[in-house]
Amino acid sequence: MIEYLRKLKQAEKYIREIITEKPEVGVVLGSGLGSLADDIKDAIEIKYEDIPNFPVSTVENHDGKLIFGTLENKKVLVMKGRFHYYEGYDLNMSVFGIRIMKMLGINDVIITNAAGGINLKFKEGTLMLIRDHIGLLAPSTLRGENLDEFGTRFPDMTYAYNREHLSTAITTARKLGIHIEQGVYAFYRGPNFETPAEIKALRILGADAVGMSTVPEVIAANHAGMNVIGISCITNMAAGITEKRLRHDDVIETTNRVKSDFVRYIKGIIGELTCTV
Ligand code: HPA
Repeated sequence: MIEYLRKLKQAEKYIREIITEKPEVGVVLGSGLGSLADDIKDAIEIKYEDIPNFPVSTVENHDGKLIFGTLENKKVLVMKGRFHYYEGYDLNMSVFGIRIMKMLGINDVIITNAAGGINLKFKEGTLMLIRDHIGLLAPSTLRGENLDEFGTRFPDMTYAYNREHLSTAITTARKLGIHIEQGVYAFYRGPNFETPAEIKALRILGADAVGMSTVPEVIAANHAGMNVIGISCITNMAAGITEKRLRHDDVIETTNRVKSDFVRYIKGIIGELTCTV
């Protein structure tokens, strides 16, 4: 753990030499949802591979970089590219970026993802605000020695998705005329997609959507006392709901189709967000 903290501090020091202003909002961009980064003003980009100890993502369409700049009059720090459980990272390394955000002074973070729709009301392209999650099928990112520097051994997860931010996100959708749903996101380990039987089981457990990211990051963020907004882009109906086989290319195709609304929505939320400084 001392070694892990040393790695974090070394990365923080490097980033602080390049980004001298304090970011207010953190954003993690999901698969195919990276185009938000193009709208950032006065952008400073740092490639993950240039940051000491920072993991490097291995997935296609996840080009790894941190981008700092201004969006809707707020200073944002965006992670374009994230580290999935299925890529084989050590759990602590998979949430390295979230902890760096906290160290740089960020308390409010928007975590986005592409997800499969389990709720039959959803369609390809639906945007879902995450109200809660099911992460019990994989180990917690907090497994192992507690990092007291970030938070307590047994962090509360009752409001894992901050209630005030959630209502800001709902109001923003209404203002912008963007249709959103709300629901429970279930974590699946991946990298294979789920079987139809697994999707049925997840529905019985109360899931509305399923994906291979977000939950580990939300746990680390809550541990560190950060306020989280979670947004899923439903890129496909989950396995067995239609006859169709699941393909990563279809996930990317849907994100391409909805990205303009997605970007408009995230920008709208950032503009309306009251940040904890
Ligand atoms: N399952 C898991 N992860 C996903 C899916 C899915 O159907 N779609 C996009 N990410």
